[in-house]
Amino acid sequence: MTTSPPQYQTVQPEAVTNWYKAGRTDQFPVGAGATIKYGDRQIAVFYFPRQDKWYACQNLCPHKLENVLGRGLIGEQEGIPKVACPLHKKTFSLTTGENLNGDCPPVAVYPVDVKDGYVYVGFAD
Ligand code: FES
Repeated sequence: MTTSPPQYQTVQPEAVTNWYKAGRTDQFPVGAGATIKYGDRQIAVFYFPRQDKWYACQNLCPHKLENVLGRGLIGEQEGIPKVACPLHKKTFSLTTGENLNGDCPPVAVYPVDVKDGYVYVGFAD
């Protein structure tokens, strides 16, 4: 398990300088993830229909540095939205990025905004 490359840094909502238009809401799967590209970064975007909430994190799983989190299963653990990596089931909070079932380094998480039918992911660069 490895720390993620430096381009993956959590962005707090108040730090956003660029709301990147990721696509129309109907281009994203319901209750699952999709992957977008932002420069050299792959970002996984998730829609939780029951809560009508969107989340984004790096697609890169810090366990083996595989770009797979967008294909992970999503769910909740004690009210915390999470994604489970499809490879070895490491689970990450989609609000803080922390690994909820082990000692993996955290993933970077990004704010998501939905406006006029489009999904925007917040970056600080
Ligand atoms: S690559 Fe092993 S849990 Fe993600």
